[in-house]
Amino acid sequence: ESRRDLDGVRLLITAGGTREPLDPVRFIGNRSSGRQGAALAQAAASRGAHVTLIAAHVEVTLPEGVAVVSVETTAQLAEAVEQHAPESDAIIMAAAVADYRPAAVSNAKIKKETVGDTLTLELVKNPDILAGVAARAAANQIVVGFAAETAETDEALLELGRAKIARKGCDFLVVNRVGWNEGFATQRNAVTVLDRAGSIVIEAQGSKLSVADEILSVLAERLLA
Ligand code: C5P
Repeated sequence: ESRRDLDGVRLLITAGGTREPLDPVRFIGNRSSGRQGAALAQAAASRGAHVTLIAAHVEVTLPEGVAVVSVETTAQLAEAVEQHAPESDAIIMAAAVADYRPAAVSNAKIKKETVGDTLTLELVKNPDILAGVAARAAANQIVVGFAAETAETDEALLELGRAKIARKGCDFLVVNRVGWNEGFATQRNAVTVLDRAGSIVIEAQGSKLSVADEILSVLAERLLA
């Protein structure tokens, strides 16, 4: 298959999980493998897009033919997005970004000998990068967010998604259910894409590469509209 429907489209994609340091040897992280974001980058590049991939911690090999910017923390990811967003036709925020970071980072390793039996961490909220990008987006830029949620039912999942897209103000939201054995760190994925109105645009399931291609077709259609 050799679709070139994203020829020349400038695409910014974030992938992987951010890591928020506690001290020089420890961090607060998450189970994102970066696989869905890397698959989006690979599929987009093969459809002709110029892809910049902002990669937080990933556990997969990143595709050839995309410009990679490596970051670790949410602050670094925010800075890289801010720098590259203005020159992008579309922005896909697939990274799992830490909602909170430690209030203080210790320059010395935290030692149990000095801390004692309980250690209390104070965390402060990170800025919402997606909401910021969506608020500043030009009329012709498309912004896509992701929502990884634990939900009991499909209906509950969609309700969380609808509330989230309203909060974030992005054009599309890719909702996927995550759990101990679902979504994160797996080969396959099942997603529902919502538009601003909260309506279902597509439902896609399969390998993360095939899901990526279906998400990109939604983008391609909007870009051509
Ligand atoms: O609010 P929640 O973390 O569920 O939102 C997920 C979406 O928002 C993802 O697209 C993620 O990349 C983005 N996000 C962000 N900045 C944050 C938290 C999440 O851009 N601080």
